[in-house]
This record gives sequence, C-alpha cells and structure tokens, in this order.
Amino acid sequence: MPKTIIVSNRLPVKISKTDDGYVFSSSEGGLATGLGSVYKHGNNKWIGWPGIEVTGQHDRENIRHQLDEMSLVPVFLEQEEINQYYEGFSNDVLWPVFHYYISTYTVYKQSYWEYYNIVNRKFRDEILKIAEPGDVIWIHDYQLLLLPSLVRAELADVSIGFFLHIPFPSHEMFRNIPWRYELLEGLMGADLIGLHTFDDVRHFTGSVSRILPVTVSANIITTGERSLVVESFAMGIDVNKYATLPLKKNVKDHISAIKEAFKNSKLILSIDRLDYSKGILQRLQAFEQLLQKHPEYAEKITMYMIVVPSRDTVPQYAQLRDEIDKRVGNINALYRKMDWTPIHYYYRSFPIEMLSALYASADVCLVTPMRDGMNLVSKEYVASRINDDGVLVLSEMAGASKELIDALIVNPNNINEVCEAIITALNMPHDEQKERMQQMRALVTKFNILHWVKIFMDKLKEVKQMQRSMQTR
Ligand code: G6P
Repeated sequence: MPKTIIVSNRLPVKISKTDDGYVFSSSEGGLATGLGSVYKHGNNKWIGWPGIEVTGQHDRENIRHQLDEMSLVPVFLEQEEINQYYEGFSNDVLWPVFHYYISTYTVYKQSYWEYYNIVNRKFRDEILKIAEPGDVIWIHDYQLLLLPSLVRAELADVSIGFFLHIPFPSHEMFRNIPWRYELLEGLMGADLIGLHTFDDVRHFTGSVSRILPVTVSANIITTGERSLVVESFAMGIDVNKYATLPLKKNVKDHISAIKEAFKNSKLILSIDRLDYSKGILQRLQAFEQLLQKHPEYAEKITMYMIVVPSRDTVPQYAQLRDEIDKRVGNINALYRKMDWTPIHYYYRSFPIEMLSALYASADVCLVTPMRDGMNLVSKEYVASRINDDGVLVLSEMAGASKELIDALIVNPNNINEVCEAIITALNMPHDEQKERMQQMRALVTKFNILHWVKIFMDKLKEVKQMQRSMQTR
C-alpha cells in the first residue's frame, strides 16, 4: 500500500528541554491541522526538524522513538547547521529576497549556501530510509527548495508535490540570488508545484523560463523528458475550530473579561509573528497618526497588539523587537490618560482560547503586512466572527487579499490610507459590516484547510496520470 510522506523544516510538534527532560507539545498551526488528516493515517509519516538542538545519542534515540508513535520522523540538526542553513540561508537570504527586502537585509554567504545543500541532503537521506516506489512525497516551503530534485534523482517512481508558503518574488528580485539556477533546478524534480496566488505562479514561471533551459507553456514546465505543473492553491484554515471555539465556556469567560476591561472603547486587534515583513512599525505609525490628528478618539479606542516571538537569534529580528518596544513606549507615553492606555502590547504567544476570545471581541482587526504569502490571521478573524460583525482591514500585499475582497483593502506603505481605513472601520454601519463579513465567512468556510489538502492531492494524482499518458504516446 503506497504511503504519503509530508516533509517540512519543522515538525508539527514543539519540543522543549526542561529539568525533567524533553517535553512535547503539539502545534496549533493550520498546516499541522490540515495535514493531520494525512500523516496520522495508515503508515503515512511527517519528516522534519524537532526545532531544538539535541546532542546526545541517547536523547536522540529516545526522541525518535517517542515521535515514531506519533508518525513523526526527526531530522536532527547540529548547531552549526541551525546557524547556517536555518538562520543563515533560509532566514537571512531566501526570506528577505522572497519578501522584497533585498538591499537592507540580504547576505549572500557561501557557507550559508553550502550548509543549505548539506541539510537538504540530510532531509533526502531521511526520506530515502522510508520511501518506496509509488509513494507520495509532499515537501513544504523555502527551507527545502533543493529537495524535490535530490529525491527524484534517487527515486524515479514516486509522486513529488511541493508547496511554497511564502510569496514567489518577481524575476527582478529573484535573479539577484547567486544560486538562482540551482534553486530552480532543485524544484524541477517535483511533479506539482503549488503557490498561494496566481501572481506567485506568474512570477515563478517567469523566473523559470528566463533562468532554466526548459519550455514553459501556460502552467506546464517541460524539462528534458519530464513535464511538471505549477498551480495556485490558496491555503485555508480550520474554520470549524475557529467558529466553534467562541461557544466554549472558557472562551466565553475570556470574552466577558475582555468586554469588561475595554467596555469604554472599541478594540482594534493586531496579531503577528515578529517579522519585518508584517509591517508592524508602519501599522503603529498609522495608529499614532490617528491619535495625533483625531484627538476625539482618545479613550474611545484601544489597540491590542500581540507579537509572537520568532527567529530572535537572527539580528534583524532582535533589532525589530527593540524598535517596536520603543515605538509602543513612545505612543503610550505621549497619549495615555489616567484611565486609558492606547496600546496594550504583548510580546509572547497566547493560548488558542485567548486568541479566539480576542478575535471574537475585536471591533476591528488590522492585518497590514508589507508582504505575506497568504496570512492566516485574517482568515482566523473572519472565521471567528460568528455574529457576522467586525471589520477586517487587510493589506493588498497579503495573498489573502485576493480572496477576502470584502475587507477594507489598503496599501500598507500608505500611512494616510491605513489611518483613514481604521476610521472607516470604526464607523462602519452594522448592516455593511454584516454584508461584508457574511461574504468573507462563506469564502473561508468553503475554501478551508481540508479543501486545500484535497485539491492539492487530487491535482498531484492528475499530473501523474498526465505524465503517464504523455509517455505512452
Ligand atoms: C512562515 C513560514 C514557515 C515557518 C513559519 C514560522 O509561516 O512559511 O515555513 O515555519 O513562518 O517560522 P519559523 O522560522 O519559526 O519556522
């Protein structure tokens, strides 16, 4: 019986080291939920890095054994590999270029590239230990761009899918990478390449046709004897989870507490992972402009801002954190009143019940990234609005803006526009809120995470059939 192997840089569990040893906690992420419908069945598996350095052989074996019971297979990384492959090449080269942050942030170190190769090969070796002819291998994201061809070279008779969770930049950005040829070559081993939006597909095929000696016809790439397909699959969320959480007792208690704490003001929600691509500083600037130009809103609005710690060993992220601290401190110092603080800022992760209560309570949700592959926060907010009210302000630079067209769509660089959109959101008549929210809820409900997994898997099967029929012609 053929099996499916999911491969991503991170496993869908978090492992932390405590005085009592290693502790496992399952990930709340949408990808983990969606793919849970896949890897938990039969002898399917998920291969990935457990997220921390584990040095002792005994500890490694122990962790491997425990993960095995959850159908997970670890790829252990040495500290130098974490530094150079993960922090270096993935997050200091690919992440900034793919998010259009080229001049300030990109470092093209040869050693980063070498480690990226080493670690992609490590992942391949782990796949080769368990993969058999006929299996389906679904590889995820920018940390593993070389993996499809590395696997294909060893296993001709498997189906390989690849999905990129971040934007694919235009050729003018992508061409700057010294290893642009090798990166695209690495992907050519796949049968199906999925991206979030049609623009990403267009950018990708544009780069492939300019950089590689292949034929590109619409969304089919032909390289030598093989043809592969590139298509957009906008990722969805676990709608059921977000629509039912607000009905649970403990979430209802949180909602009451939030309503009581902010009973005199409208709540504006902002939730992101710490990242310069999320536009957090620009959002703060727009909020400050609102307070400055419209003093009538003082004490009537509150921003609840959560920044989830991320990659803080990469220097730009640590620096960004300091800048956010400073900006929030300045705004609060300038505008606060005895009984009112404009921004409630939290630098930590929150349990899902509290996030759900915030989504359900916020009058406005501000999602204004400078670039974002999809942005699931925007969809989580919509799914949580079971009374069909609330207003989403959404950046046109997020993949989600192509679907959530009933949000107030803004250019995140246009501070005036964001400021005005917040005012429009705060004053939107209830009927209009309802009309917009209903449309958006219907969309996120239909195109949920399970639907995303299904259409990708179905397409992969279809591509394999297409390849077979081309061979027999
Ligand atoms: C983005 C990427 C993922 C990544 C996640 C968290 O969503 O597309 O691949 O796992 O950020 O980042 P981290 O570096 O902590 O894995």
